[in-house]
Amino acid sequence: MTKKYTVVRLQLKNDSTASFDWDQLIALATQNYNCQGVVEFDLKESQIDAVLGERAYAGVNLPAPERAELEQQGIALDSGLQFFFYQEQHIQHASIFSDYINSNHSNLQVSSQQSDWQDWNQGFRDNFKALQISSGIEVVPAWEQGEDRGREVDHFRIYINPGMGFGTGSHETTALCLYYLDQVIRQHLQPGEPCLDFGCGSGILGVAAIGMCGLHLDFCDIDREALDNCQQNILINFPQQDLSNHRLVARDRFKLEHPYKVVFANILESILLEERELIISAVSPGGFLVLSGVLEAQVEGVKEAYIKSGQLEMVDSKIRGEWGALLLQRSLR
Ligand SMILES: C[S@@+](CC[C@H](N)C(=O)[O-])C[C@H]1O[C@@H](n2cnc3c(N)ncnc32)[C@H](O)[C@@H]1O
Repeated sequence: MTKKYTVVRLQLKNDSTASFDWDQLIALATQNYNCQGVVEFDLKESQIDAVLGERAYAGVNLPAPERAELEQQGIALDSGLQFFFYQEQHIQHASIFSDYINSNHSNLQVSSQQSDWQDWNQGFRDNFKALQISSGIEVVPAWEQGEDRGREVDHFRIYINPGMGFGTGSHETTALCLYYLDQVIRQHLQPGEPCLDFGCGSGILGVAAIGMCGLHLDFCDIDREALDNCQQNILINFPQQDLSNHRLVARDRFKLEHPYKVVFANILESILLEERELIISAVSPGGFLVLSGVLEAQVEGVKEAYIKSGQLEMVDSKIRGEWGALLLQRSLR
């Protein structure tokens, strides 16, 4: 039987002129309803830019006066978001999410559609563009590898095939983890030191740690499809290298065999709390722990839960959009 995934499409109703807090809805969908990806659709961008110029910055959150101005010009705003559900129980999660929207957001029009699994990549390909994450890191779609990009660069390029693993760099939580690696942790590392990418998804964080710092990586994920995608991305980025120092391990087979100089865990708050003991003991004395995947309002709670172990010290925390990340260091004792 061909595998399917479900897309729930949300649009502001025609008579709704108020701007809408999409970010909050995205956070809710990913945190509470197991939504794995969100893509903006058909904003008629070029037409909007022609009318609004620089005021077109707000994407789907266009304020009411700008929306009215566009409508006067005859540009119907077919704006909205598509929420992707692809795990085994996608139909159930998508339908509970749709019910929630119907009961709580009368200004939104809801439709949903099931599609074949094979079409997923194309959907993502169309929406995935090269992105400079920080001065040291650029994420580039794998299909642009080998293209002449017109300039020599002194930063590391990570090539990602989005596949089924979360992690193209465009999400704030991934970008925050990469920022910490590039701007803070990197200067404290020696090639060959061990690093754990826990909840690796596409493998983007571990790939950056191999490419920029020469670390030896263990990639771990609960999702087999993500591990396949991660493996593919490792091979894309390091086709000529001996990869015997790196391991891919499914969560149910992962055992802590040695501590790691760097641990990344960009996972939901509930998992960070559930896996706290393992994650903390995975960090070597003096090693760094990057936690992300938490909403701004959850940052304090996660910080307290990790600090109260008495083994970690806070180095920094950052908020980007609705999301937060923490950088901690394990005491040398
Ligand atoms: C938000 S994605 C992060 C992907 C990538 N590391 C990044 O930063 O973009 C979280 C990943 O954690 C995985 N995951 C969820 N629960 C997990 C667990 N208990 N142990 C390991 N991985 C888990 C998910 O399958 C998903 O691939």
